[in-house]
Amino acid sequence: MEKGNKEYKPHCLILPFPLQGHINPMLQFSKRLAHKGIRTTMVTTKYLFKTIQESLGSIPVETISDGYDNGGLAEAGSAVAYVEKFLKIGPKTLTDLIERLKNSSDSAVDCIIYDPFIPWGLDVAKKFGLVGAMFFTQSCAVDQIYYYVYKGEIKLPITDNEIRVPGLPVLESSDMPSFIYVYGSYPTGLEVLLNQFQNVEKADWVLVNTFHKLEQEVIDWMAKFWPVKAIGPTIPSMYLDKMLLNDKEYGFSILKPDTDACKEWLHERQTRSVIYVSFGSLAQLQVEQMEELAKGLRMSNKCFLWVVRASEESKLPENFANETSKKGLIVSWCPQLEVLAHDSVGCFITHCGWNSTLEAMSLGIPVVAMPRWSDQCTNAKFVSDIWKTGIRTRADEKGIVRDTEIVRCVELVTDGDEGKEIRMNAIKWKEMAREAVDKGGSSDRNIEEFVSALVNPLS
Ligand code: UDX
Repeated sequence: MEKGNKEYKPHCLILPFPLQGHINPMLQFSKRLAHKGIRTTMVTTKYLFKTIQESLGSIPVETISDGYDNGGLAEAGSAVAYVEKFLKIGPKTLTDLIERLKNSSDSAVDCIIYDPFIPWGLDVAKKFGLVGAMFFTQSCAVDQIYYYVYKGEIKLPITDNEIRVPGLPVLESSDMPSFIYVYGSYPTGLEVLLNQFQNVEKADWVLVNTFHKLEQEVIDWMAKFWPVKAIGPTIPSMYLDKMLLNDKEYGFSILKPDTDACKEWLHERQTRSVIYVSFGSLAQLQVEQMEELAKGLRMSNKCFLWVVRASEESKLPENFANETSKKGLIVSWCPQLEVLAHDSVGCFITHCGWNSTLEAMSLGIPVVAMPRWSDQCTNAKFVSDIWKTGIRTRADEKGIVRDTEIVRCVELVTDGDEGKEIRMNAIKWKEMAREAVDKGGSSDRNIEEFVSALVNPLS
């Protein structure tokens, strides 16, 4: 069908960086677009496609190559090698894909929604005269911080303990993303994050997985310079108690979730009695930290559901799972949204990855923030001091959060009087997140505007 025809459905390619925390929000966004009449196709790397454990539901998938079709990042051996080769091979294979789709009558591409971890996605879009929409998977605050480093307005290494960035509260150096605060700790990561801005002024849209009320000041500041639109949270609406979309299958998981075991176990627990513990798809805990966490969970005397990825399992204290089997369940991966949406869950010990932060907030779960690295310290700062939906744990001089501190924080957010405000705020933010994505809410209007510009490019 021709462009300009009323029935014409624009076609967007969705290009996430191949990591769980990036694919999840971009997949959910593509479903939201599909619901509004846009054709969307997820583009994954060939290796990732082979490893997908659950279907992407109704969204079609195409593949490109990162140069490591048999093992992805593990095959590359280092992040530097991976990023370099992806940059060499990726644009060519994306170009080939667009050419192929161009030649098939009804699949020609109109727009690429790309993860700025892959800034060349925009260059390819522009080569073909397509709309290029950047999609930030981290918070607007974190994006703003990296941008100020990119511009040279935050000088590294940081020497000041009071950092002022427009649109943000005054931050201490330890509230900065770890790649900045611990300068030199992960140069490749920092380079990827700063390179996000190398061609931002050419982007037709800058979409951010956040919502206006959550990050109002920084969104408004950024929107003075770029076409910024907050479109989140990208939580499937079924988890927000509103069946806005037919998005029953939210599934995409690189790791295989232990869904039945988790659900059965949760069904047998009392309302709000369970501590859910997870550190996302990448973070690694020191052995000592794992031991303290295990001791803390045991000392809390509460039920717990703990996600310990297979690669972390050997760090668990010997026999811990057996000894605590009456109170706890340890799984290697879970359906996190289903868990957070379950009535039995009362709090979330989290690393504060941006998805986990938004998911907890959208489902009204108070959090105990134990940030590990990357953007997580900044997210934890906002959770504890700005949105006040959780408490940030204090580490000792060795950087370890001790068992007693874990118990103190868990008790505070679940039972303590001191935590009453946190629990109330968690409910308040849940309502605001829901309002944003509900029909006519701020994020919904932004998505409508984006869709309408794709459908009527000349108006
Ligand atoms: C990474 C970074 O660490 C994070 O800080 C950044 O903002 C995004 O990329 P990750 O560490 O995996 O992501 O954390 P997070 O952003 O929380 O994403 C994890 C995703 O995996 C969430 O959507 C969560 O629902 C899902 N998950 C996690 C599961 O489905 N099951 C699990 O057992 C654990």
